[in-house]
Amino acid sequence: MGTSRRHEKARCLIIRLSPAVPTPFLAVPLQIIILAAGLGKRMRSDLPKVLHPVGGKPMLVHVIDAARLLAPSRIVVVVGHGAERVREQCAADDIQWAIQDPPRGTGHAVEQAWPLLAGDGSDASVLILYGDVPLVEPASLRTLVEAAEAGSLAIQTQGLDDPTGYGRVVRDVNDRVVRIVEHKDATPEQRRIREIYTGIMAAPSARLAAWVKKLDSSNEQNEFYLTDVIAMASADGVTIASAQPAHPRETMGINSKLQLAQVERQLMQKRADALMEAGVTLVDPSRTDIRGELHCGRDVAIDINTVFAGSVRLGDRVNIGANCVIIDCTIGPETTIHPFTHLEGVTIGAGCALGPYSHVHPDTTLGDGVDIGNFVEVKRSTIGNGSKAKHLSYIGDSTIGRDVNVGAGMITCNYDGANKHRTVIGDNVHIGSDVQLVAPVRIGAGATVGAGTTVWKDVADGALVVNEKKQVARTDWQRPVKVRKKSPD
Ligand code: UD1
Ligand code: CA
Repeated sequence: MGTSRRHEKARCLIIRLSPAVPTPFLAVPLQIIILAAGLGKRMRSDLPKVLHPVGGKPMLVHVIDAARLLAPSRIVVVVGHGAERVREQCAADDIQWAIQDPPRGTGHAVEQAWPLLAGDGSDASVLILYGDVPLVEPASLRTLVEAAEAGSLAIQTQGLDDPTGYGRVVRDVNDRVVRIVEHKDATPEQRRIREIYTGIMAAPSARLAAWVKKLDSSNEQNEFYLTDVIAMASADGVTIASAQPAHPRETMGINSKLQLAQVERQLMQKRADALMEAGVTLVDPSRTDIRGELHCGRDVAIDINTVFAGSVRLGDRVNIGANCVIIDCTIGPETTIHPFTHLEGVTIGAGCALGPYSHVHPDTTLGDGVDIGNFVEVKRSTIGNGSKAKHLSYIGDSTIGRDVNVGAGMITCNYDGANKHRTVIGDNVHIGSDVQLVAPVRIGAGATVGAGTTVWKDVADGALVVNEKKQVARTDWQRPVKVRKKSPD
């Protein structure tokens, strides 16, 4: 999507009322209607379109979050297809839901929302947003709202190199907006107009209510077009203000899986840009996915292809290797996460090293200087400062003290087939390789567990525990020899 040079000129017509700064107390109460009742057929999915995730949350939630930042007195979402699922997944105390079934056009959708607006709305302005245009920015929306508060009908428009499919903005000889014509209804000459309506408008409520009542469906699609209110406003002598978004991505709509992927990438790039702006080193921002919130300290470095999801906090000088998945984690300063590590719901101290190929599950806390290495899986456990499990272990439902060394192949047998049990390992314990700890079991501080030991009874502090085994060496033994089959003649 490119903004054409020719439309740079149109920017001069923006009614610039004030710089886009947060204004929590707007002069006129604002109400917001979000249209989300379209069928979304082109997604070819059983999931209602507005529930498809963008940057880790349903696209509709992005729109709702942006709407909230404008401090409206009410938000009404119009839903139709899959209404129940949408309401269930996006429910919030400050959202009202209107049903439009079947969808009969954007004007008809606004009509369904009207009874849910607060009061008679005559002292308020209304902002219309789309549930499938998720990257809207409050600053751009505020420009429109301020124009509506001053009595104008404000529309957001954009110059596109390829305007196919969009409503075109028709201007008179004085460059004043007079109407919007839908692509399907446009003449060949109108189709050459490259300034399109993005679908976002703000208007004084009482005015909009009157115009919406007068809409009809005598058009190519037999729909009630909200865009017809622009011609009505123009006929009533109401000023029509137009403003462009600060960035083209703000108006990208999602109708197909291709557009879903394009919007996702735009959002990822925006988040990556913000991180780099804050001093984070990203080896390649186009291969960095932040599907949630990522907070970084100073001099954090992130290699390629790591997915961050939920809420992740990285302390100063944290280093993240390539191809990790990190979900809802807090990672202390100077910690290094080596490649191919999967972490979820983990709190990690300072100066730790994890991976490559570690898998740490939720409810796990690692102290400072902990080392979790190759093919080590940790679940619901606490591991104390300076403890190490560097190779091929499973640590589940365990409490491990400080400076413990877990040998290669140690397994906590935490599950008896019915219930999970805890393993407690004291400070300074040394565990040899290939050990099974059958929980519930407790290893006292300073104890040593010999290699190949199965421990099923508690071990006293400082003790050495081994299983009695005999080593047998037979000198009369012969390794079997492979029998070669004769080929049939
Ligand atoms: C609409 C505009 C068009 C603009 C384009 C920008 C109209 C008539 N046309 O066209 O000028 O360029 O958006 O993307 O408004 N919706 C409902 N109920 C309905 C119909 C739609 O809730 O009955 C919702 C959809 O879920 C969607 C939004 O309204 O979120 C826009 O609907 P869509 O069908 O995509 O509009 P377009 O025909 O593309
Ligand atoms: Ca459509």
